[in-house]
Parts: sequence; structure tokens; C-alpha cells
Amino acid sequence: MNIQKVAVIGAGVMGAGIAAHIANAGIPVLLLDLTTPTLDKLLKADPAPLMHPKNVRLITTGTIADDLPALAQCDWIIEAIVERLAIKQELYRKLATIRRADAVVSSNTSSIPLHELVAGLPEDFAAHFMITHFFNPPRYMRLLEIVSSAQTDPDAVAKISQFCDHKLGKGVVACKDTPGFIANRIGIFWIQTAIQEAIALGLTVEEADAVVGKPMGIPKTGVFGLSDLVGIDLMPHLMRSMNRSLPAGDALLEKATIPPLIQTMIDTGYTGRKGKGGFYRLNRDGGAKIK
Ligand code: NAI
Repeated sequence: MNIQKVAVIGAGVMGAGIAAHIANAGIPVLLLDLTTPTLDKLLKADPAPLMHPKNVRLITTGTIADDLPALAQCDWIIEAIVERLAIKQELYRKLATIRRADAVVSSNTSSIPLHELVAGLPEDFAAHFMITHFFNPPRYMRLLEIVSSAQTDPDAVAKISQFCDHKLGKGVVACKDTPGFIANRIGIFWIQTAIQEAIALGLTVEEADAVVGKPMGIPKTGVFGLSDLVGIDLMPHLMRSMNRSLPAGDALLEKATIPPLIQTMIDTGYTGRKGKGGFYRLNRDGGAKIK
């Protein structure tokens, strides 16, 4: 399939997990971030290690400032940095001058439309660019959304889809460049409704997750546990993106409004597992109901 080496830029929640998953499939990965990523967190992740210790040797680490030239050896470059369009585009402009002509670049964005990501970038870059939206945690979630457009080279899409299907064990779903793609468009209804109803009924997160967890097919975490895992700080990005992109009068607009509780949690550092805690820490600290 001609994918012998992959680069992942951004070693946060998703980038680290994606790099570990690809290395677990036996493919060498170059993992870059603002500072050199430590591989410890791949081996000691909570609740389960992201990778087998023997596969750590397949991961090379470095920094974005020093090691971008090494991306010229990669067949697929996955961007998994902070969810800010301007920062992502600044990186793409550099990648456009470094990547090999046949190398694919993809973004793991959960909320920024494909046409905004490639706006103003060279045509040949855009032809080899797509969104590969992994789900959290990448090691265990089979779903992978691939968003392409009429501008994208169909051979590049086929190459990445086949690799993700066969080598990474993903169930690839092709998506149009629509707000929230497919899963988040549905998920936003789900999270907003869970928050609104839990507040209205005065439930604790445990009580709420007992209803919107196992019975709804999320046995391990429930909706609130999943939100802590994904990162509470991502929600406003998704909601703003939906707000901007949906036509006036769309039924989803009501659900694409940031709830005050979410804003307060972000402002106070309760961004989920990667922060001081999330819905569950709030609950454990004070035994508080969701409010
Ligand atoms: P994160 O906050 O855990 O990691 C972001 C990484 O970006 C950090 O390692 C940080 O050092 C790096 N970064 C920050 N500023 C930067 C800059 N100026 N230049 C380069 N790198 C910079 O974020 P997370 O959750 O891993 O998200 C990464 C991407 O994956 C985002 O586009 C997000 O929308 C997407 N995503 C996240 C999911 C989740 O469950 N957290 C699920 C699916 C997609």
C-alpha cells in the first residue's frame, strides 16, 4: 500500500494515541510536538497502556521547530495539534514545502471543515489533503471518518482508506464536508441533551451515566465519562463550528450553543482527564449534582 512510514504532529490526547496505534501495527512513526514527546505516557496511560512496550522502538520523537525536514521521508503525515484553524494552516504552509509529492497530509480535526483547512494552500497540497478523524481512544475505537472533496485525489483517499481498513483495523466511513461530519453531528445532540436533562432532574453524573451509558451502548464511560476522556475544552470548538456552518433555522442550531456549565468548567481548568478533572472529579470532590 506504499505506506512505510508515518508522521504524527501533535502528541496530545489524540496524537499520542494515533502514533501508538500505528506503531502497534508495525509501522515506524515520527512523533513531533512543541517539545519532544515523552513515550512514558504511551506506556502508562490511564486506564490502559496505549501500546505494547516492544513497539516503542518504532516511534521516533522530536520537535516541530527542529524536525519538520524529516517529514520528507514520510508517506502519510497526520496533523493532530490544537484545534485552531490559523495554527493548523501555518503548519500546512510549512508542510507544503517539505512533503514528498505523493505523500498524503491529513488532519484529525473534529470540527473545522475541510474547505477551510485547505483555503489558500497550493492545489497539489489540497489534492493530497484530507481529514482522517480518529475517535478516542484510537486504539480501541474502530470508527474512522475520512472527509474528502472534489478537489482531493481519489487515489490518495483510496490509499489511506485501505491502509486504515486493513492495517489499522478501522471501519472507515467516507464523509462529506458537512458540519460535525457524521458522528459529532449526532453526538452533539446526545451530549447537550444529557447535560440539560441531568440538570433538570438534579442527577449526579453517576446516576446520569447509568441511564445514558450501558443502555445506550457506551458501557465503560457513559456520556459524561466520555466527555471527560475526550476533553471538555473541545466542545465549544465543535459547537462554534456547527453554529457558523449551519443554515438559519436548522434544527441543530439549538444544540450548538455552549452550555454555561461547560464554559465554567473550562475557565476553572476542569477540562477532563487531561485537566484537573471533569464531570467525575467535580462529583467526587463535592458530591455535587450536575449544575
Ligand atoms: P490536546 O490538547 O491533547 O493536544 C494538542 C497538542 O497540540 C498538544 O500536544 C500541544 O502541545 C500541541 N500544540 C499546542 N499549540 C501548538 C502550536 N501552536 N503548534 C503546534 N502544536 C501545538 O488535543 P487533542 O484532544 O489531542 O486534539 C488534537 C486534535 O484532534 C484536534 O484537532 C481535535 O479536534 C482532534 N480530535 C480530538 C479528539 C478527542 O477526543 N480529544 C477526538 C477526535 C479528534
